[in-house]
Amino acid sequence: MTTSVEGQTAVVVGAGSGIGRATALLLAERGAHVVCVDRLEQVADTVAQARDAGGSASALIADVTEPATVVDAFARAAAERGQLHAVVNTAGITGPQGRRSHEVDVAELDRTYAVNLRGAYVVSQEAVRHMLPHGYGRIAHVASIAGKEGNPGMIGYSTTKAGLIGMVKAQGKEYALDGITVNALAPAVIQTPFLDDQPAETLAYMAAKIPMGRFGTMQEAAELLAWMASPACSFTTGFTFDLSGGRATY
Ligand SMILES: NC(=O)c1ccc[n+]([C@@H]2O[C@H](COP(=O)([O-])OP(=O)(O)OC[C@H]3O[C@@H](n4cnc5c(N)ncnc54)[C@H](O)[C@@H]3O)[C@@H](O)[C@H]2O)c1
Repeated sequence: MTTSVEGQTAVVVGAGSGIGRATALLLAERGAHVVCVDRLEQVADTVAQARDAGGSASALIADVTEPATVVDAFARAAAERGQLHAVVNTAGITGPQGRRSHEVDVAELDRTYAVNLRGAYVVSQEAVRHMLPHGYGRIAHVASIAGKEGNPGMIGYSTTKAGLIGMVKAQGKEYALDGITVNALAPAVIQTPFLDDQPAETLAYMAAKIPMGRFGTMQEAAELLAWMASPACSFTTGFTFDLSGGRATY
């Protein structure tokens, strides 16, 4: 089994920014055609960057909170490309921050759930539907260390990322005999635009817990996701890989 994705098609959801964009660019650099999906038009910039670097990419708009748009995007990708070998889902939001649970409105939790867990479920479901007939697929989601340990003041984020880890565990087992692996990444803090709206005290709390004394880079996250998206990820499924500068050692 190889880490090469040459000639394959990878769908990257959340490719308009941050870890998703970095992963899309890396997969394109390694020879995949990358279908870049995001709810924002800026996903076209990712495609332009991939093409400028000599890669092959296309853009589709979809919002993971609206399942019909995801179904449509996957149908269009499959119609254009045939087989969808890999799906990497990085769409996520932080939700309410800096407040304890009793201060958070249920509607805010619902919104976080709609993107981080229900949205991931919709993406996984659609990915599997397209992969099953081919007997092959690689699915990777982005959870968070917050889902393993729980970040105070981020109840929506912590609970939905924990749920995502549970979803990946179950789906890994469900499709273990179908040639489809389902895994996740659990990063500690990664330097992306995601951090722009984080309160300083939240960033300081997270950084202080990283033994390497720094935030991770988007490229470091992309490397592990690109591996999970490759044929080489053939005997690991239902697993969440840490990417935490030594914070998580279990
Ligand atoms: N940056 C970090 O420190 C960090 C740490 C742990 C986990 N994560 C996770 O990594 C993933 C990527 O984060 P990032 O830092 O690259 O963030 P980012 O904000 O830079 O990128 C997220 C992308 O997801 C897209 N997106 C959001 N909601 C969407 C929706 N409803 N439908 C479609 N696309 C949507 C956004 O438009 C954006 O392009 C997220 O799931 C996040 O929770 C990030």
